[in-house]
Amino acid sequence: MNDLFEPYDLGVLHLRNRIVMAPMTRARNPDGIPNALNALYYQQRAGAGLIITEGTPISKTAEGFVFIPGLYTSAQVAGWRAVTQAVHAQGGAIFTQLWHVGRVSHVSNQPGGIAPVSSTAQIAKASQAWGFLADGSAGPVDVSAPRALSTAEVRGVIRDFAVAAERAIEAGFDGIELHGANGYLIEQFLNPLVNDRTDEYRSDTIENRSRFLLETVAAVADRIGADRTAVRLSPYGGLFDMGLYDDVDKTYLHLADELSKFNLAYVHLMDQQSRGSTPIPASFLPQFRLRYRGTLILAGGMTRAHAERCIQEGLIDLAAFGEPFIANPDLVERLRNGWPLEKADRSRSFGGGAEGYTDYQVYQPA
Ligand SMILES: Cc1cc2nc3c(=O)[nH]c(=O)nc-3n(C[C@H](O)[C@H](O)[C@H](O)COP(=O)(O)O)c2cc1C
Repeated sequence: MNDLFEPYDLGVLHLRNRIVMAPMTRARNPDGIPNALNALYYQQRAGAGLIITEGTPISKTAEGFVFIPGLYTSAQVAGWRAVTQAVHAQGGAIFTQLWHVGRVSHVSNQPGGIAPVSSTAQIAKASQAWGFLADGSAGPVDVSAPRALSTAEVRGVIRDFAVAAERAIEAGFDGIELHGANGYLIEQFLNPLVNDRTDEYRSDTIENRSRFLLETVAAVADRIGADRTAVRLSPYGGLFDMGLYDDVDKTYLHLADELSKFNLAYVHLMDQQSRGSTPIPASFLPQFRLRYRGTLILAGGMTRAHAERCIQEGLIDLAAFGEPFIANPDLVERLRNGWPLEKADRSRSFGGGAEGYTDYQVYQPA
């Protein structure tokens, strides 16, 4: 069946429909530990075929945003377990997004105020992290100058991803999505305008600059199984000083070939058009689809009509919705029935408590 509202078999998982809740940072965790409010938020949205959680840092140095729940301590694993149980109790499925921000960070996000790390020592221009201001309040701050990781440290970060993946399974997640999109650490290796290394992770060839991602995928798949491992990518993405380069198509089509070899749970493409970047060209998606042999998800400005068209044309398997899930916990039912969608209050996207988080209502037909 090619219907948005029909079930879909994702490896070992049986999804109840083809609608995915895209990962969204909500910053409701001042102590970094998932809590009952997070469990309620995700449980309310468990009608999605698959939920992907907010970006979850794999270590203290992976952070570039205050108040986000991590996945590197036992307390965090216990907190996430309550979240996964709440979603599973509703018959839902849930992956977590493993995140290392790299240079999109501020010294106030880092342990002991050290410099953030990256593939490079070049600062991300015109980019802001969410850190602590001089007066101690939290808010947007210009990113700090990064330090380039040594080769041994790169391997250490790959290990951190693998350990966090193992912790995710311990916490009851159905799988993990590596955050390879939106200008964060993995993309800081992929993009040749940013990666100025001289070791085997350098950017002189597509193979070399893909190495960090592919070794991370291999390390994670080795620990938790490829069928529980997924990757998010944003070809043509411009967020956080990711300039466009000549062989962007070739780079991502190479990744399509290489990622096909793993039999992953899925690859998730994000079109950043709705975030102000260059759209993924119409000609790119069919090429990627041909080269990537596995489940493909697309996110970015999705509507029911667009999702159905893409699925029926065979371009994608699953459609991910971001912001619409914030204000519409029952998004699947609203789309199915053609009910109106509420608009999210963007002033409450990040930080705070239940307001603008768990207090959005399900639609009440007259
Ligand atoms: C509040 C908010 C937080 C987000 N946080 C993340 C994140 O943690 N990881 C990520 O990959 N994308 C993140 N995104 C991007 C979304 O996953 C999604 O791709 C994007 O919003 C485009 O989809 P949409 O047009 O349906 O909202 C975020 C988006 C929003 C609105």
